[in-house]
Parts: sequence; structure tokens; C-alpha cells
Amino acid sequence: MAETREYWNSRAGFIVAAIGSAVGLGNVWRFPYVCYKYGGGAFLIPYFIALVTTGIPLMILEYGIGQMVAKGAPQVFHSIRKHFEWLGWTAVLLSGVVVFYYSAVMAWCFDYLYHAVSLAWGDDAQTFFFQKSLQITNGPGELGGIVWPIFLGLLLTWISIFLIIYKGVKAVGKVVMITVPLPVLILGIFVLRGVTLPGAADGLAYYLTPDFKALLDPEVWLAAYSQIFFSLSLAFGVLIAYASYLPRNKDTANSAFITSFANCGTSFFAGFAVFSALGFLAHVKGVSVDKVIADGPGLAFITYPTIISNLPFWSIGFGVLFFLMLLTLGIDSAFSLVEGIVAGVADEWHLNKARVTTAVCVVGFAGGIIFTTGAGLYWLDIVDHFILQFGLPVIGIVECIFVGYFFDSKRLRTHINMHSEIKIGLWWDICIKYVTPILLGVMFLKNLYESMKTPYEGYPQWALFVGGWLVVIIIFIGGVVLMKLSKTEGDR
Ligand code: PHE
Repeated sequence: MAETREYWNSRAGFIVAAIGSAVGLGNVWRFPYVCYKYGGGAFLIPYFIALVTTGIPLMILEYGIGQMVAKGAPQVFHSIRKHFEWLGWTAVLLSGVVVFYYSAVMAWCFDYLYHAVSLAWGDDAQTFFFQKSLQITNGPGELGGIVWPIFLGLLLTWISIFLIIYKGVKAVGKVVMITVPLPVLILGIFVLRGVTLPGAADGLAYYLTPDFKALLDPEVWLAAYSQIFFSLSLAFGVLIAYASYLPRNKDTANSAFITSFANCGTSFFAGFAVFSALGFLAHVKGVSVDKVIADGPGLAFITYPTIISNLPFWSIGFGVLFFLMLLTLGIDSAFSLVEGIVAGVADEWHLNKARVTTAVCVVGFAGGIIFTTGAGLYWLDIVDHFILQFGLPVIGIVECIFVGYFFDSKRLRTHINMHSEIKIGLWWDICIKYVTPILLGVMFLKNLYESMKTPYEGYPQWALFVGGWLVVIIIFIGGVVLMKLSKTEGDR
């Protein structure tokens, strides 16, 4: 049965929920390690350019179009041209894959929250992370069985997601008033603690000194653009769904600016906490900042715990706070991914939202189990890399082309401007029609060529095929299949 659409209880509820979706593990876990990997300060310039040329315009687009059509992503693209519906389904499927592994990272956080109470990693956080916590195997081909504490963490994550969202967006609007500011406050404590540690200045210098040579490397640019997509929750259909619950007479353009700046400001701020602490670690170890960690997802789980153990006082308290922060950061991003999927499915087949939510949570939990095995980290790394480098940019390009060339972008601009505090001008059309698709297209092709030459991180080709290419291909073909399936309903 069709239900009347539920709306956010206030504009603030919508903005805070959207910030909650954007601000997540991506800001504190992913941003610093990507930034570190590409030379610290060097990364900030492309990152900022990506924000202005793509992040903000695309967010305005997603908010505007979501609000205007007031449906989930597949239905929104259907309303532009019915043959475009697949793009919305592809975004929904992409959200599904991301939430599989995103919830697994949250499961690690639960595990670490437990271990922080006794600082169980001792003085060898690396061994602890790989051997004890993840029980890592020798390669992606050796699954090595389920690691039960992580499995339990995954279950807790999904129970939390379910309990928060099954009551609908009004309830979500209330929960986010706590889960969004809380981790940012905790982050403030870490920044203060970080910058007052010995050696902090070296870490901050590494973070803030630009290295213009790195700007010539296209990989840095692609990494910056994909980080912006991931971090702002763009091209997932999530923001379209969130904006679809926003009444038509409410502002969108200014909300997009607020969300984007709040998100990137938080990442930048998190950089202070992380890099000052890295400076401290370099000081303790007597090495330079660029040698202090192996880059990669281990930053939050190896390097930061090491730093916590070395703190002069109250280590346990900081340990617990750190993982509590990651969990509260991650939860609203995780449930926003689920909301995007639920909106698409419920709107398409006119299903009861609570029931669809339950089903999506069960499938989400089941899909995450692979990442709780001993080979979980390998698969997570491969899937994350391919999805972000090859799936997201393609969706972004196609999204811009559809709206820019097949839809009256002026009409959308007029709709947005009608109720917005900030009026957007021609610059927006130019970004959508030319700047974003061209930049993304060039980088995408260049990167495709490079990755054909050298296998990512030296993983075996078959694993890259299964966890990388195949997943990306399935997402795109799956989008078309879902479009075809939904057409048979014939009720639109
Ligand atoms: N933006 C979230 C983060 O930075 C991740 C996310 C991506 C959430 C896409 C929703 C949709 O952690």
C-alpha cells in the first residue's frame, strides 16, 4: 500500500542528519591515511579543489533533485528519463557493498572498544591488530574461518543501525542531535591532547606544508576526488533520499554549503589530532614523520593505539574515548547508507518502510560476514579501492551528464533558487556540464590505464578480478537488471 511520505521534523534535523552521513569514519580513519600516503600537505590542495569544483555543485544537485521529485534515487532518475533509472539502482547497489564493509570496520571498533579497557595491544599494536584482533591469514585465498569477536561486533553494529532507523526519519532527526555533535566534541579533546604533546609541531608541519611536485601526479588528484565523493556521501543516492524527506519550501543550496564545509572542516580538524600525534610518535621513536607508519587502513588501529599507549597519563580513558568516537562517527553514516537503499526499494514497490528496513539490515549483516573472516582485511581493501576508484567516479560523471544534458538544468536551478538562502548562478551549470565530467573522465581513464599495468598492492590477479572488477561490473549490470524488474510493475 502506498503510504504518505514522512518528512524531517525540522530543517535542522535534515542538515544534522546529512552532516552525520557525511562525517564518518571517512573523516578520521580514511582522510588522514590517504592524506599521509600522498605526502600530507600535498594532498590538501587537490582536496580543496575537488570540494569546490565537484563536491559542492554535486551536493546541490542531489539535494535539489531529491527534494524536487521527493522519491528515492532510482525514481528520481526515472523521472528525468525513464531509461536513466538504472543509475539510481547502481547507486543503491554501491551503497549496499559499501555498507557491507563499512559495518565491518565498525565491528573492529567495537572489538577495540572492549580491548581499550585493558590497553590489550600493549606495546606491539601491529601484531595485536593483525594476529590477535583480525587473525589475518596469508592472503585473500585463505579465508581462515570467522573471527568471532569481530562477528559479534558486526552483529552489534547492525542491531544499533536497525534500532535507530526502523522508526522513520523523524526519530532519526532526534538521534543525530546526539550522535553527530558527540564525536566532534571528543575529537576536540584529541586535538587539544595532540597539539600539546612533544613533537607535535613536526607532525603538523608535515600535514600543512604543501609539496607542489605531488600535484603533477594524477593519482593524487583521483585520490582527492574519490575521497570527496566518499566523504560527502555523493553518488550513493543517500543524499537524494535524505533530501526527498525535505518539504518543498525548504532551502537546499545553503544546506549543501553547510554540509560540505562542516564535513571538510571536520576532516581538516581531525588531521590536527592525527598528525600532531604522529609527530609525537616520531619523537618517541626517534624517526622522521614520513617514516612513522605504514600507510593504509591500519592508521586508526595500529598507529593510534600505539600513540595512546605512549601517552603520559590517562591512556585507558583516551583509548576508550577514541573508539567510542569512531563508533558514534560511523553509525550515522552507516544508517544513512541503509536509508538510501530503503528509500529506493520502498518507493519503487510501495512497500512498508519498516519492513524493508528490517530486510535490508538482515542482508547487510549477512553480506558483511565475509569481512569478519581471517581474510576480511584483504577483501575490504580490494573492494574499497575498486569501488572508490572506479565505481564512484563513473556514477558521478554519468550523474552530471544526465542532469546537465538530458534534463533542463536551468529548471533545477530555478527550483533550487526559489527557496534557497543562497542563489546559485551559471557557475553551477558550468561545473555540472563541463568541469566535473571532464576532470573525472580524464583521471578515470588515466587511472584505468595505470591499474592495468600494475596490480593493486600486489594482490593476485584473480582476487583483484573477483573483489574488484567483478563487483564493479555486477553493480552496473545489477542496476540495469533492477530497472528492468521494476518496470514490470508497470504502475507508473
Ligand atoms: N561519508 C561517510 C564517511 O565519510 C561514508 C559514507 C559514504 C556514508 C556514502 C554514506 C554514503 O565516513
